[in-house]
Amino acid sequence: MARTITVASGKGGTGKTTITANLGIALTQLGYDVTIVDADITMANLELMLGMEGLPVTLQNVLAGEAKIEEAVYVGPGGVKVIPAGVSLEGLRKANPEKLEEVLTRIIGSTDILILDAPAGLERSAIIAIAAAQELLLIVNPEIASITDGLKTKIVAERLGTKTLGAVINRLTGWGIDMAKSEIEAILETKVIGIIPEDPEVRKSAAFGKPVLLSAPNSPASIAIRELAYAVAGKKKELAAQSKAKKESAISKMLKVFRRKR
Ligand SMILES: Nc1ncnc2c1ncn2[C@@H]1O[C@H](COP(=O)(O)OP(=O)(O)OP(=O)(O)O)[C@@H](O)[C@H]1O
Ligand SMILES: [Mg+2]
Repeated sequence: MARTITVASGKGGTGKTTITANLGIALTQLGYDVTIVDADITMANLELMLGMEGLPVTLQNVLAGEAKIEEAVYVGPGGVKVIPAGVSLEGLRKANPEKLEEVLTRIIGSTDILILDAPAGLERSAIIAIAAAQELLLIVNPEIASITDGLKTKIVAERLGTKTLGAVINRLTGWGIDMAKSEIEAILETKVIGIIPEDPEVRKSAAFGKPVLLSAPNSPASIAIRELAYAVAGKKKELAAQSKAKKESAISKMLKVFRRKR
């Protein structure tokens, strides 16, 4: 049975897709069978970042009931398995995002770690991606707006029964303008399990559709992402000990949250 981890953030552009792609590859390099899923079907950036655009069957087709999830799994760079979202607007119209957890259930027996790249914010599609996973990896930038929005995401995730695996500080500049790790941990009430520096190699790689971990494996960001992979792999036991006997279905958890809002 796979671990399911949602990579999410409050604010957009914190680095979720970059981290999903490269963490997936780093965990594959550690010997795990890893599947990364683009759960951001309206934006579908993961396939572009991996240079895998234009694939015939995507998550959109699966969520539209036109294909089986197994048909949308591809082997990507570094051997990581990838489920792309698909970029067609027509496909987007037909897709039913509420089916996400149900379709993912079919593949959790055939992989060790399933990582979901969630949409930003707390719109319904983001809630669905958070609810569909057991663990939340919260991506923040070291600035106050990113942290306060991240806190909202964490609170909603906890209401949904998704445990916080930890936070990752991405784009640390070291210019004396970053919020301190201790301050971030105090606000978020969670451990920071990874710190990824601002690194021009990340954007350069993205521009060429190649993950930084493969195009610049010795760059500071790549080294930090490999350290994050060790931390994620090592967290398994700790979380399993706290884990609830049975996970509620995403839909029933979602309904609870929506009811509480009213
Ligand atoms: N550590 C880093 N150093 C430099 N640039 C980075 C770093 N991490 C991410 N970026 C750049 O920041 C931009 C946003 O990253 P990314 O697309 O991964 O964020 P996102 O959270 O998935 O965004 P969205 O909310 O739009 O889905 C990209 O141009 C990416 O190359
Ligand atoms: Mg993204």
